[in-house]
Amino acid sequence: MTTSLFKARAGSDTWPWLFCLLAVCCALAVARPALAEEPAAVARSAETGAAAQQKRQQEQPLNNAPVWREVRSGDAHFTTVRGPETGVLIQSEGQTWRALRNGPVTLYGGVLLLAVIAAILAFYKIKGPLTLHDAPSGRMIERFNRFERIVHWGTAGTFLILAITGLAILFGKHVIVPIFGHTLFGYLLIVGKNVHNYVGPVFLGFTLVMIVMWARDNLWHNCDAEWIRKGGGLATGEHVPSGRFNFGEKTWFWIGVTVLGLTVAGSGLVLDFPNFGQVRQTMQTFNLIHVIGALVLLMLSLGHIYMGTIGAHGAYDSMKTGYVDETWARTHHELWYKEVKAGKPGQSPGHAPAAREVAP
Ligand code: HEM
Repeated sequence: MTTSLFKARAGSDTWPWLFCLLAVCCALAVARPALAEEPAAVARSAETGAAAQQKRQQEQPLNNAPVWREVRSGDAHFTTVRGPETGVLIQSEGQTWRALRNGPVTLYGGVLLLAVIAAILAFYKIKGPLTLHDAPSGRMIERFNRFERIVHWGTAGTFLILAITGLAILFGKHVIVPIFGHTLFGYLLIVGKNVHNYVGPVFLGFTLVMIVMWARDNLWHNCDAEWIRKGGGLATGEHVPSGRFNFGEKTWFWIGVTVLGLTVAGSGLVLDFPNFGQVRQTMQTFNLIHVIGALVLLMLSLGHIYMGTIGAHGAYDSMKTGYVDETWARTHHELWYKEVKAGKPGQSPGHAPAAREVAP
């Protein structure tokens, strides 16, 4: 029976077991010197990390400060995850970013935004809208062609979507949560954040076209000096002649649309695509640039939107229909009006409208 058992065990599938046994014996033989060294290694570590921790647990139970100090040192430790900074568990500078973003940036940004809204409303209440000096002539001239209006409303529409979703991201927990609660706010923000991320690059596209389209019309003109001297006549209601765009509009174009628009859209791209090796600190810096730039752009845009709607009679029609009354053109952009009437819109690039009168 024993023989037959041995025969059965020593069959063809016994050899792998014997081979494994041999391998284990060899491994033990190789590991023997290392095992022998183990007590020394334990003794060494006892003097350092583990022993120190153990001692500390006895002296100051639950106080893990040295461990956390090491974790928060910012040094890269071992990890199999590949990528920049993956060995750094905690990036302590992030706390500075968090404190800045959730503290002064949100607080002063919000206060300034409300102050700008209040100032615009007060200005409207005290001064009222800019009105025409003479009665409308009934003769219309083209101010913006179809392409210009599509680009303008594309920029304005995407900007408004970004402004609403961006404000929800920044101020939502202070304004929306107390009213609608965390659950609804959570769902709103999941949608809002994704809309914000995807609309950002579209805004950049429209902005770039707008800059190329209107750069020439926004170049410095001698009449701008007079506009600056008289503060655009905003306070006095005085008539200040200007070209296709006045100095106020030019300021909005260069500082608002060009500098801030590109800064906000560009920093947004850095945040949108974190897969180009940016480390956390880069993302934090660009986040602050993005938020502060966006808040300043939003404040300036409120002034522009005011002038484009209730602030100046007839301005909105120019961007809605593309046409303005001749009296409007003479009142607000006299030099441009004269150029158009003379059939040579001086500063205007090729696509800018020439004089074309239509029935009212
Ligand atoms: C709902 C919001 C907006 C309204 C109601 C509005 C309205 C207008 C109107 C009526 C004009 C024509 C002014 C004129 O005839 O001289 C205009 C021009 C212009 N708008 Fe807007 N706009 C809005 C948002 C925006 C936004 C978000 C941007 C850019 C980010 C923008 C950029 C411009 C530029 C660059 C001009 C030409 C002025 C210049 O180049 O100097 N607009 N807008």
